[in-house]
Amino acid sequence: MQTVTTFADLRAARRTLSGMVGFVPTMGYLHTGHVSLALRAGSECASVVASIFVNPTQFGPNEDLAKYPRDLPRDLAQLEAAGVELVWTPTPEEMYLPGFQTWVAVEGLTRPLEGEARPGHFRGVTTIVTKLFNAVGPDKAYFGQKDAQQAAVIRQMVKDLNFPIDIVVCPIVREPDGLALSSRNIYLNPEERQAATVLFLSLNAARSAYDSGERAADKLRSLVREKVASEPLARLQYVSCADYDTLEELETVRRKALLSMAVYFGKTRLIDNFVLE
Ligand code: PAJ
Repeated sequence: MQTVTTFADLRAARRTLSGMVGFVPTMGYLHTGHVSLALRAGSECASVVASIFVNPTQFGPNEDLAKYPRDLPRDLAQLEAAGVELVWTPTPEEMYLPGFQTWVAVEGLTRPLEGEARPGHFRGVTTIVTKLFNAVGPDKAYFGQKDAQQAAVIRQMVKDLNFPIDIVVCPIVREPDGLALSSRNIYLNPEERQAATVLFLSLNAARSAYDSGERAADKLRSLVREKVASEPLARLQYVSCADYDTLEELETVRRKALLSMAVYFGKTRLIDNFVLE
C-alpha cells in the first residue's frame, strides 16, 4: 500500500493504477463501517484508493473540528488489511489555498434534516467530494447508508454535474446492540453509550408498526419520539419520515421512505436511519 500527501504525488500514483478504480473518501478514525466500504470496493474494482481528510469546511463554528478524533497509524493498518492500494492524506493547506472561493452546492436536497440542523455542512461535503473526485478520477465511489442524506446529495451532484462515477451506497454496520458505528461514538461516556441504543430501538419500534401495516407517517414519527422520550439521557433533535428520493416529509408511506433521526447525548450528536420499502 502506498501513502501520498500532495496532489502531485496522488496524480502520479493514480496514473500507475490500471483497470477499474474504486474510491472510499473518509475523515479517518476508521471503524468496521469504513472498512466495509473498502472491502466492497475491493470486491468490485481492480484497485482501491482511500482518502483520509478531516474537511474543515463541513464543520460548523460550534462543531467538533478541533477535537475530531484522529489515529493515522491505526487507519493505515486497517486500510492495508482491507487491501487498499493507495491512501491519500491531503493537508488542509494544500486543499484550501489562500483565497479559496469556489464552492459546489446542491440545492433542494440539502435543505431539510442534516442541512437544516447543520447550515453549510453539505456545501462543505459536496465541495470536498468534488475536489477528491477530480483528483482521484475513480470509476466507482463508495458511501455508507449511515449518512443517508449525504449519499442522496452526492448521487444528485454526480448526476447534475455529469461525473462519470458510479455511486455505490453500502449498508450500515452496527454494534451487536444495534448502535450504528460512528467515529463520534467515542465521545459517549459509559452511561451515554448504553443510552445510545435508543436510536436503533426507536427506529425498530416504528419499523415493527410499519411491518404490521402502519402507513401514517405521523404515527411512525410519534413512535420514535415516544421511545426517545423514555431515555432520560437522550435529547431528540429531529425525527423524519420522508420520501426516499426527494427527502420531502410524508403524510402516508406509499413508496420507498427514509425514517431518520438525530439525537444528542450531552454534546454528542448521533444520527441513524432505516429504509422502509
Ligand atoms: P466519514 O464520517 O469518515 O465517513 C466516511 C464514509 O463511511 C461515509 O460514506 C459514511 O457514510 C461511511 N460510514 C460511516 N459509518 C458507517 C457505518 N456504521 N456503516 C457503514 N458506513 C459508514 O462521511 C464523511 O466521512 C465525509 O462527509 C466525507 C464523505 C469523507 C467528505 O468529507
